[in-house]
Amino acid sequence: MVTFILNDETISTGRPSGYSLLDFIRYDMGLTGTRTGCREGDCGACTVLVGTRKGDSVSYSSAVSCLMPLVNAHGRHIVTVEGINTGNISAVQRAIVDHSATQCGFCTPGIVMSLTAESLAARKTTPESAVASVSGNICRCTGYKSIEKAAAVIASALAGKPASDPVSWLVDRGELPAYFLSIAERLSLISPLPPEPAGVRGIAGGTDLMVQKADLLAETGTVTFLEREELKGITADSGRCVIGAAVTVSELGRSGLLKRHIPDLESYMQLIASEPVRNMATIGGNIVNASPIGDMSVMLLALNADATITDGRQERRVPLKNLFLAYKKLDIREGEYLKNITFPCSDDPPLFSFEKVSRRTHLDIASVNSAISLRINGDTIGECHLSAGGVSPVPLCLKKTASFLTGRQINAETLLQANEVIREEISPISDVRGSKEYKRLLLRQLFIAHFLKLFPRRLNLKIYEL
Ligand SMILES: Cc1cc2nc3c(=O)[nH]c(=O)nc-3n(C[C@H](O)[C@H](O)[C@H](O)COP(=O)(O)OP(=O)(O)OC[C@H]3O[C@@H](n4cnc5c(N)ncnc54)[C@H](O)[C@@H]3O)c2cc1C
Ligand code: FES
Ligand code: FES
Repeated sequence: MVTFILNDETISTGRPSGYSLLDFIRYDMGLTGTRTGCREGDCGACTVLVGTRKGDSVSYSSAVSCLMPLVNAHGRHIVTVEGINTGNISAVQRAIVDHSATQCGFCTPGIVMSLTAESLAARKTTPESAVASVSGNICRCTGYKSIEKAAAVIASALAGKPASDPVSWLVDRGELPAYFLSIAERLSLISPLPPEPAGVRGIAGGTDLMVQKADLLAETGTVTFLEREELKGITADSGRCVIGAAVTVSELGRSGLLKRHIPDLESYMQLIASEPVRNMATIGGNIVNASPIGDMSVMLLALNADATITDGRQERRVPLKNLFLAYKKLDIREGEYLKNITFPCSDDPPLFSFEKVSRRTHLDIASVNSAISLRINGDTIGECHLSAGGVSPVPLCLKKTASFLTGRQINAETLLQANEVIREEISPISDVRGSKEYKRLLLRQLFIAHFLKLFPRRLNLKIYEL
């Protein structure tokens, strides 16, 4: 039985562990404040809070309930818009009313929950972070300006929020119901789920599998990778960075260790999906779904990463560039799973750049993406790793181009010649994200953009010269 706390009530259900949390909330529990929209993680109408116990406290984040299988709710606190009711409307709801940030109201519970998650985040809230928190909420009525104004007011209302214990601070101010203070203790009483029999499908964040196979999962069981301790955490070990397969995109973006290696990490993560999807989506899921345009796969290829594959007893290490065998086909055998990703890290990290073009900047997958890491010796390129997505059946490591670049001077001529090598290495096809000619052009531009970003003065290039 999956057991969790839904608002103030501890619930146990015999529904299949792959059943969607959204359907359980609305149709089993009759809590209709959580709306059904796209069912694909795009609109945010179904946004809820997910509270995870961390010792004596609970940390909350937003999630799209349509893509969350019940198994991922086990042992957690799920909060719907009904669950934040104190008898008065909260500061978040007041700001939305005062700034006419609601019209038909269909999107509004989702927006309220995203902004409440931002209020509960254990960090300072700024007008920018408040706006970013609703990056996964689509509204067809308000035109967004009124929502932005409400977000700015909420940020100033949260000016004194302590990062250490935002829950108590909000309860003290009457912004959250008092029952929130008992949740950590109540969650500690829920036992972990027993292991599922062998052969049951595994799921991590669900943001890919629940889009592809929601109907099948609604009728069957699934086990979660999220609860496996060995798949969590970001550490440094013997000169390598180790990222557990169940680390989420949000956790990655906040990692101090990784930010030392990739200073622009947070802004790169903002280009992936939306806040609630990033809170759920894992690195393991991004790699194993084997999408040719997976952003994490492309970044990790350029970091010269290895994948650790295990069957639970024995482990083997595979260079990530060899893991992708063919379209959606990986070197992972029956009974094996991805444990972690490792890549070389040092106090003197290489330069790194990630570029992505999609039809819109946020909440969209790439037409073409690319990443590069390189070291330079004076004017010449030393070790170099280059990758690209959307230009072959798999996320591609551009080995020949990287080897061509190694030892050459950084100048326009080198880039032009390297682009000819890239052309030989890629095989884009025309699809809904663009024609093959367009994708060739995009990769050329992204390749040049890496160098313009990393060497703005040294290159002194004008784009038309290329
Ligand atoms: C609205 C929306 C926007 C998105 N935007 C982007 C984007 O901008 N960029 C991008 O790259 N992707 C994007 N995605 C795709 C997806 O969110 C990511 O690829 C995500 O990282 C998948 O991770 P997950 O944990 O949710 O995978 P899941 O759906 O849980 O799993 C995917 C597959 O991987 C398997 N799996 C997961 N973990 C392991 C493991 N440790 N070992 C073995 N198998 C495993 C599962 O069995 C399943 O087959 C988007 C998805 C949505 C819904
Ligand atoms: S229903 Fe649209 S994101 Fe869940
Ligand atoms: S108020 Fe109508 S969709 Fe947002």
